[in-house]
Amino acid sequence: MNAIMDTGCEAQFHARQAFADEKLAVMGQFASGMLHDFNNMLGIIAGNASLALQDMPRNAAGYEEVLEISHAARRAQDIANHILAIGRSIEFSKTPVSLNEIMLDSCRLLKSSIKANISFKAVPPSEQIVVNADRCLIEQVIVNLCKNAIQAMPHGGSVTVKCHLVPDGNRKIASFEDKSKTFAAIKVIDTGCGIPAENLLHIFEPFFTTKPGGHGTGLGLFISKYIIQNHGGQIHANSIPGMGTIFSVLLPLA
Ligand SMILES: Nc1ncnc2c1ncn2[C@@H]1O[C@H](COP(=O)(O)OP(=O)(O)OP(=O)(O)O)[C@@H](O)[C@H]1O
Ligand SMILES: [Mg+2]
Repeated sequence: MNAIMDTGCEAQFHARQAFADEKLAVMGQFASGMLHDFNNMLGIIAGNASLALQDMPRNAAGYEEVLEISHAARRAQDIANHILAIGRSIEFSKTPVSLNEIMLDSCRLLKSSIKANISFKAVPPSEQIVVNADRCLIEQVIVNLCKNAIQAMPHGGSVTVKCHLVPDGNRKIASFEDKSKTFAAIKVIDTGCGIPAENLLHIFEPFFTTKPGGHGTGLGLFISKYIIQNHGGQIHANSIPGMGTIFSVLLPLA
């Protein structure tokens, strides 16, 4: 008798759970669609504010207000893009892709962010490295890391992006469960302000930022870590305050 009741309750529980999951999936799709539209509208606000600023002398009435609108719209776009990236990394699809190409494409995306006082170097690997990955998401990680590096050097410096196979002897640095696999490493090295030890413990937490006045969402590294972990990889940071920082991403080969 108990067994019959248990099975009945269990069936009801599973049916309710399935209904709740379905509702959540529909709401997720709805929210993601809204966020896309929202992001497009923010693009229009940010774009028009920038255009208006181009034609305004700095001392014109309303210049500061339009500047505020432009900054706020750009930050809101950053947040929306980060949230959309979480959605994309839940549904991501992995295919064998060349890390050499991913690296060069990411560097191309960064062109407009590199100021004259920054020397930016991309060192492609000597051999072809193929990983199983969603290329847009890995590009997004490299862009996030490079943007952080650039932002850590307001007075200039250098950023180097490297990519290589992890040599056999070094594989123990990665505490992967499957030690038999070979890994690819992407490194983003900067000569910026560095990260104090007390901050290093928190940089991958959501909303952790040291950037003043709403200039950072604190989501860039959180999402980067989420993406890399979803690819079976790892991300680490080493830093010497005042000297610079090295972010290392390890990805299993295809
Ligand atoms: N290369 C770096 N050099 C110095 N500090 C860094 C570097 N990368 C990250 N950080 C520190 O880690 C914090 C968190 O970085 P994260 O990318 O998650 O957020 P953010 O850059 O502040 O905001 P957003 O990515 O939305 O612009 C930064 O605010 C900064 O303090
Ligand atoms: Mg960032």
